[in-house]
Amino acid sequence: MSAWRSRFLRDYAGRAEVWLLAAPGRILAFMVLKPQRRHGFIEQLFVHPQNQHQGLGRALLALARFRCPAGLELDTPAENLVAREFYRRQGFAAQKVAFDPLVERVILRYAWPALEVRRRVPYVTPPTSNSPKSVIAAPSWTDRGR
Ligand SMILES: CC(C)(COP(=O)(O)OP(=O)(O)OC[C@H]1O[C@@H](n2cnc3c(N)ncnc32)[C@H](O)[C@@H]1OP(=O)(O)O)[C@@H](O)C(=O)NCCC(=O)NCCS
Repeated sequence: MSAWRSRFLRDYAGRAEVWLLAAPGRILAFMVLKPQRRHGFIEQLFVHPQNQHQGLGRALLALARFRCPAGLELDTPAENLVAREFYRRQGFAAQKVAFDPLVERVILRYAWPALEVRRRVPYVTPPTSNSPKSVIAAPSWTDRGR
């Protein structure tokens, strides 16, 4: 928890916009966006489980595009297949793969608009309980152009 607190204070405090979609008495969804001139990085995007599939995630992405029309990037865990499908349908494409030691997960960097992929990004097999954390499957297809 203290690692998360440190990360929030270091990465977000004073540098990020926090956008909330709210109903009386409760938060439906939020986005943490770091704009840099006309580009931006989406640090967090969460829709309350009771309010998913209602277009709220898409609405927050539209807001991010409005704020940062030149381009957006974000990271998502390779195992988050729901988010990956959501971002793919919203025109984002996986650009690179990295391992985040803080969360001990393989992370995919997504970008919109999709950059031309010079080196094809391999499809990363979500880790299973008996697979080593850093195993990356041989590429047979990519997140782009599915
Ligand atoms: C991923 C997430 C942000 C999507 O938000 P949402 O409000 O449910 O998505 P929307 O209702 O706006 O849907 C937008 C599009 O994504 C698609 N989509 C949404 N959830 C989906 C799912 N579970 N599987 C496949 N497609 C999905 C919708 O069909 C829609 O497609 P369309 O525009 O082509 O019709 C939301 O599920 C979420 O907060 N998940 C938990 C947190 C998370 O994983 N955040 C991302 C971490 S980086």
